[in-house]
Amino acid sequence: MQSKISKCVFPVAGLGTRFLPVTKELAKEMLPLVNRPIISYGVEEAIASGCSEIIMITGRAKRSIENYFDRSFELEELLKSRGKTELYEMMIKISNMAEILFIRQREPLGLGHAVLCAEPVCGNEFFGVALPDDVFINESDPVLAQLIKVHEKMGGSVIALEEVEPENVSRYGIVKSQFEIENGIHKIIDMVEKPDVNDAPSNLAIMGRYILSPSVFEILKGQQAGAGGEIQLTDALKTLCAQEPVWGFVYKGRRFDCGTQKGWLAANVQLALEDPELRDVILNAVK
Ligand code: G1P
Repeated sequence: MQSKISKCVFPVAGLGTRFLPVTKELAKEMLPLVNRPIISYGVEEAIASGCSEIIMITGRAKRSIENYFDRSFELEELLKSRGKTELYEMMIKISNMAEILFIRQREPLGLGHAVLCAEPVCGNEFFGVALPDDVFINESDPVLAQLIKVHEKMGGSVIALEEVEPENVSRYGIVKSQFEIENGIHKIIDMVEKPDVNDAPSNLAIMGRYILSPSVFEILKGQQAGAGGEIQLTDALKTLCAQEPVWGFVYKGRRFDCGTQKGWLAANVQLALEDPELRDVILNAVK
């Protein structure tokens, strides 16, 4: 079954414990990556990939994400009255970026449960999932768009993959590929969430972009808690790949892991070095 992907789900209810104490009050998705919040990169990628509806699965501590994408009349009026046209237009552009729906995940039961919260909106359609901690940069061909192309060609669900070093295997969901059908496209027959390196079926790790079949919702409804005591999306996809085709795609592009303090810091430095206006600031600071 093929379909156009118009919806992308962003699970953003996580408490961000890897960033404490900053995230005691601040949503980790709102931390800056050079000049805009981390979440903005994922949303821009989804829009550039053709998604017109963004569904955020959020929690009570994440109101700042809702406010960020909403209009702010007071600020807009102030900027307009002071003749700060460029900033004013920037604010309008952010709030017009996409149709964004917010659904509350009432309990932190895991990524699988967060995705299940999107069922009332996604219904019977294939949909995208983007984990905003993984920031992908590929200007010409956004990573979600690459997965959509595989879905359009092959049908079924598609997961972004990356080969990781053995020491990093236990940080990710790891897949077992039956065969590589063509350049970078793998038929997935098994997967396991955060395995010990000795038990891992490969070094092909799941990265935070997915195109999922709506069949995953029924599986998630019966899904027991797995690794870390959470309802894991990986466990549900393991069941799904026995029922329907699930493809893995070794994406093309660069990934910045903004889910840890070290990764986020490194991403800021790397991206600032690539910005012609900021490059010298960083080089001088390092000197
Ligand atoms: C999640 C997924 C995992 C995936 C990872 C990618 O883990 O559960 O399968 O490999 O994202 O970033 P998390 O990083 O939320 O623990």
